[in-house]
Parts: sequence; C-alpha cells; structure tokens
Amino acid sequence: MAYEPYLPATDMPRFLRELAEFVGFGPEDVATVRRTAPHVLAREAALTAGLYEHFLKFPASARFFLGEDGQPDHQRIERRRHSLGRWVRQTAEAALASENAYYLLTVSLAHSHRPQGPIVPVHFMVGAMSLTQSALAEVFAAELPAAEALAASAAWNKLLLVHLAALLLGYLPPRAS
Ligand code: HEM
Repeated sequence: MAYEPYLPATDMPRFLRELAEFVGFGPEDVATVRRTAPHVLAREAALTAGLYEHFLKFPASARFFLGEDGQPDHQRIERRRHSLGRWVRQTAEAALASENAYYLLTVSLAHSHRPQGPIVPVHFMVGAMSLTQSALAEVFAAELPAAEALAASAAWNKLLLVHLAALLLGYLPPRAS
C-alpha cells in the first residue's frame, strides 16, 4: 500500500485518525470514553484545580501563573482552569474529527508559540498528560468495578496520548512525515 507523506498540521483529522488506529483506539474505546465521561465531568473542577495546584508547586511551571508580585495570579489561573475544563469536556466526547482536531492544534500553538513570555517547556506538556492519566485512573478505580475501571483507564490513556501527540506538533519543525 503506497504511503503519501504529509505535513500533520495541514491535515489534522488524518493525523489523529491514523494515530488512533496505530494505538488501537477503536469504536469500543470511543464507547468506553463516552460511557465513563460522566465520572470525569463530575470532577472536572477538582481535576483542573489539582493540576494547577501541582503546577504551582514547581518554580519552572509556577512562573506561568504568577503575578508581578511573585504570588499566584488567581484571575489568570481561573482563566486557564476554564480553558483546561473546555479541553476536558471536548476530550470526553472522544471526537477526533475536524473541528476538534484543529482545536488541538491551536491549543498546541498557545503553548509552543506564546507571543509574550517564555514558551511552555515541552516536557511539562508530557508531564501534565501523565498527571491527567494518573488522576483519571484514580477516579475510575474509586468509582467503577475493577474490569470497567481498567477498560476506562486503557481507553482514556490511548485518547490522551493521541491528544498529546497533537499538542506536541507546535514544538516540532514542520516536516512531511
Ligand atoms: C495536558 C496538557 C495541557 C492542556 C490540555 C492545556 C490546555 C490549555 C488550553 C485549552 C489553553 C487555552 C488555549 C487557547 O487560548 O486557545 C491553554 C493555555 C495555556 N496553558 Fe495550558 N494546557 C496544558 C498544559 C500546560 C502546562 C504544563 C502549562 C505550564 C506549566 C500550561 C500553561 C498554559 C499557559 C501559560 C496558557 C496561556 C497561553 C497564552 O495565551 O499565553 N499549560 N492551555
């Protein structure tokens, strides 16, 4: 089968579709994500608050959320939590089609090409996704029977790492691959 190299950012739906196939994120996983989404959405505020509390613990990640006085800028944190909440809700739909695909690219660029101040280091994007995976695994383990919790974690982990791959695109040189 011939393969046509392309620039991922020029065809995000294809990029996400091919990676989803590669990691085995199929219709059953889509159904699992949607079925277990209420458990995640019910905790959206706690999940996003937990992530930002974590970011504030480390100077290298806290600096993005501090005011000029060096203290946490609560207004900015609220705005960021709101953005993160929107991403959680979109993720819960498990939709990798066009609109959501380009949304992920704009989120990537918001971190990799900040017009002012330092860019968000790429390793913190990876770290944030790891934190999200751990937090969701805990939610599922606490709320669901063991087999369903395992299926939920497996499905969400695949989806979150497909998202992570999209969030990393802004950091990579645009090259057909
Ligand atoms: C799972 C990983 C992450 C997700 C899904 C995420 C999600 C988002 C979203 C949806 C936005 C709004 C983008 C827009 O305006 O369109 C945003 C902005 C932002 N995020 Fe994240 N974020 C992640 C990790 C991080 C990390 C690790 C940091 C820093 C330690 C960070 C710092 C910021 C900052 C500073 C902005 C504002 C960018 C600007 O407009 O200057 N994010 N994020």
